Amino acid sequence: MSEPRKILVTSALPYANGSIHLGHMLEYIQTDMWVRFQKHRGNQCIYVCADDAHGSAIMLRAEKEGITPEQLIANVQAEHSADFADFLVNFDNFHSTHAEENRELSSLIYTRLRDAGHIATRSVTQYFDPEKKMFLADRFIKGTCPKCGTEDQYGDNCEKCGATYAPTDLKDPKSAISGATPVLKDSKHFFFDLPAFDAMLKSWTRSGTLQDAVANKLSEWLDSGLQQWDISRDAPYFGFEIPGEPGKYFYVWLDAPIGYMASFKNLCDRTPGLDFDAFWNKDSTAELYHFIGKDIVNFHALFWPAMLEGSGFRKPTAINVHGYLTVNGQKMSKSRGTFIKARTYLEHLSPEYLRYYYAAKLGRGVDDLDLNLEDFVQKVNSDLIGKVVNIASRCAGFIHKGNAGVLVAGNAAPELTDAFLAAAPSIAEAYEARDFARAMREIMALADRANAWIADKAPWSLAKQEGKQDEVQAICALGINLFRQLVIFLKPVLPNLAADAEQFLNVAPLTWDDHLTLLSNHQLNPFQALMTRIDPAKVEAMTTASKEDLAASVTDTGPQGNGELAKDPLSPEIDFDAFAAIDLRVALIEKAEHVEGADKLLRLTLDIGDEKRNVFSGIKSAYPNPAELEGRLTMMIANLKPRKMRFGISEGMVMAAGPGGEEIYLLSPDSGAKPGQRIK
Ligand code: 2FM
Ligand code: ZN
Repeated sequence: MSEPRKILVTSALPYANGSIHLGHMLEYIQTDMWVRFQKHRGNQCIYVCADDAHGSAIMLRAEKEGITPEQLIANVQAEHSADFADFLVNFDNFHSTHAEENRELSSLIYTRLRDAGHIATRSVTQYFDPEKKMFLADRFIKGTCPKCGTEDQYGDNCEKCGATYAPTDLKDPKSAISGATPVLKDSKHFFFDLPAFDAMLKSWTRSGTLQDAVANKLSEWLDSGLQQWDISRDAPYFGFEIPGEPGKYFYVWLDAPIGYMASFKNLCDRTPGLDFDAFWNKDSTAELYHFIGKDIVNFHALFWPAMLEGSGFRKPTAINVHGYLTVNGQKMSKSRGTFIKARTYLEHLSPEYLRYYYAAKLGRGVDDLDLNLEDFVQKVNSDLIGKVVNIASRCAGFIHKGNAGVLVAGNAAPELTDAFLAAAPSIAEAYEARDFARAMREIMALADRANAWIADKAPWSLAKQEGKQDEVQAICALGINLFRQLVIFLKPVLPNLAADAEQFLNVAPLTWDDHLTLLSNHQLNPFQALMTRIDPAKVEAMTTASKEDLAASVTDTGPQGNGELAKDPLSPEIDFDAFAAIDLRVALIEKAEHVEGADKLLRLTLDIGDEKRNVFSGIKSAYPNPAELEGRLTMMIANLKPRKMRFGISEGMVMAAGPGGEEIYLLSPDSGAKPGQRIK
């Protein structure tokens, strides 16, 4: 037996300002399946990730919602974590780049680079918003295309004619944040001296670390000459201040990949025996893999290895790059309902259907993957239910009826079990190479053989004949064993199916090597349906709900004013205790006022009998004259944990209905209700 490998794996860190969608899930599911495969094989494999929490987009979104960036990233982290867990993506740690470990490691790497002479400074002239008092990234400047004259184009390229240009080329530039006309202003920037690593990168990118197509793309960049990389941004910025440089912050992309290390460090600090240095020292023998999409190759295959090299750490073993997700052959589209959020999918369908479909289509290349929704239904139903689960459901009944659920000893078809055994190394190789599609094809070919054999033996006919009981038991016992083999091979893709099958088979959690044995003289548990067919109506409902997400996001003002999407589909059922935990009260609006600097919020002073409450509510668009609310009764959630917002603390939430904008309707009780009365 060879020594278990030590492997550290990451997926790209999702930005902490948006929801996870099925395009993101392609990467997390792919990585998770690979990690689960490694663990299944007995290797030490650790999978870390984090939210990518820095940058001006996050700062501005938090400001718009009237909350601090810390609150925004905490809310988003909770949402992301739940989405990943429900898709069975099993991180060993999901951290945040806005964390102490990351601050320390970013400072360490920066100071090592600086002390080694790899940081340069020079003045950069950029557009500055005189109202917001901040420098504007290209996407925060809009104006008229200098080439074709189309208005309202972003600062770096024109969506109409495709021209690319500098923001200073735009005609009539405006700040997309405040609408002010930007002015040009100089400031000192810090640069990482990437060209100093040219020779190292030329050899590293050709040393088996990258897929060929990626290495070829990088050669083009390397041959055309590397540029120094601007790693600083001026205040105001949400991120880490550069050590010794007040008012200067690390650009989000500097500390994002360091977030991989920081998440691992955070795990090491609370896991006895897990040694950070053993994975990150220059001479580490552990393997390190980053799974990423093709849009962020330059950061991972140029800047990141150069930063690691320059600061004395090890470099990645490989960068595994995948393509984009298309749905029904096209880019995901909000209006077609194919821009599907992870949560919307989960509200309608089981995560394992998608995990299997992605596995069935994922090769090791960088091609885009198409989620064709009709094919999805057809393939999952035919392979998982029609082929795999079918074997167990065909055989289990005869064993329970004819032999009290005990699998008889023996092997009714050694040629078949030999074929399963012989296929295992090739399936493992395909998993290892991330050629999940080949692994799935080979597994399904085995399932086809098992089904054909059972169909040929037809235990259902034998069961009706005198004296054939032993034969029926022998056939069905082997059928269940072949089902067990298939489950072992599929476990990295379908962990829930595997857990349910383990329960039915009455066995401990299956590992890869369990395929070397068969169960004999073994008691089964009662059989329960392991998986149900996808109902196409559910897929339809999911795309309809995705269109509704769009409608909600256009108005984008829930009564909470937190920009969360109003959802029309009914929420999952809750029990009475969960309902009873919510303290709803009649509240008298004593005062309603505008909040300086907030676009959507009103400040309400509420009387709930014995207490006064200060509540910020995102209802300004419907009540532009807040005074008209004064003296009115409404309903509030009185035991909601107070939330710190930029403008103060909000101590509860008032209840309103409607899609948003002008259509927000504050709820009120009938006259006669008294402030403070509990709503039951
Ligand atoms: O492109 C993105 O979504 C980035 N948030 C990925 C960061 S990956 C890593 F470098 F942190
Ligand atoms: Zn143009």
